Amino acid sequence: MAIEKVKTILEMADKANTAVLAFNCSDFNMISAVLQGAEKANKPVLCMLDPRHATFMKWTSPRIYGPMVRELAEKVKIPVGIHLDHCTDFNLLITAMESGFNSVMYDGSMLTPEENLKNTKEVVHVAKAFGVDVEAELGHVGFADNAKDQDDEDLYTKPETAARFVEESGCTSLAIAIGSAHGFYKKTPHLDLERLSEINATTDAPLVLHGGSGIPDDQLKVAFTRGINKLNVGTELFYNYLLSAKKYCNAETTDNMFDFPTAAQEDLTEYVYNKLDLSSLTL
Ligand code: 13P
Repeated sequence: MAIEKVKTILEMADKANTAVLAFNCSDFNMISAVLQGAEKANKPVLCMLDPRHATFMKWTSPRIYGPMVRELAEKVKIPVGIHLDHCTDFNLLITAMESGFNSVMYDGSMLTPEENLKNTKEVVHVAKAFGVDVEAELGHVGFADNAKDQDDEDLYTKPETAARFVEESGCTSLAIAIGSAHGFYKKTPHLDLERLSEINATTDAPLVLHGGSGIPDDQLKVAFTRGINKLNVGTELFYNYLLSAKKYCNAETTDNMFDFPTAAQEDLTEYVYNKLDLSSLTL
């Protein structure tokens, strides 16, 4: 049984002064590849469903995703967590908790800090009854296609506010804004590592970095030693899926459509295995 409490996985990462990688993966091939890549690397991993991947959500829901990851996780020995990413919908959060997700993110980062705290507290209260961990976000991590989101220090997490937020909300982990953004970066991000150290000095909570696709490895490695214990990666995995499909379609020798799912899984497994090099977490 490979499902492990996310809090425990984060504690393992914290002890090892590194981060666990959490991948947005939205279908069977992607989830299978994440688990196979992590098994090959012998490292824990988190599978994350992002409700913003709306076309996927139209056809399925946490009720399918949760059991699917749990079933697939039976095939591997590494610790696996199931996380609902960026959710603002209370009903969806509860559906995920009922469906085998052992971690959820309540994202109140667009709200005032007071409203964010109030709502996060409520989610934590409910999640406790399910034994589910809660990630919150303080400050706001925006989108990389808007360079301003990445550079606007007004959106960054204020070190003096983090400890109180964690304490009062009861969240398990805290996503912080220090110069990363979601999606393809138009210009190389420069993480505010000084700010990260300041935040980390105020709280024992594991810190989470979003927008993990395209941040230079050297910055990530420093960030991991300064309190980032979870790195979210999505865009790179999805893009590699697309590349795999293109490669398959263009291959002159391949005209067997039935082989595509396996071929895509192999390509993505390799990507995940290599990406996991970033984490020094060993079992
Ligand atoms: P990327 O898609 O930029 O890797 O970000 C993923 C993420 O932060 C999901 O929460």
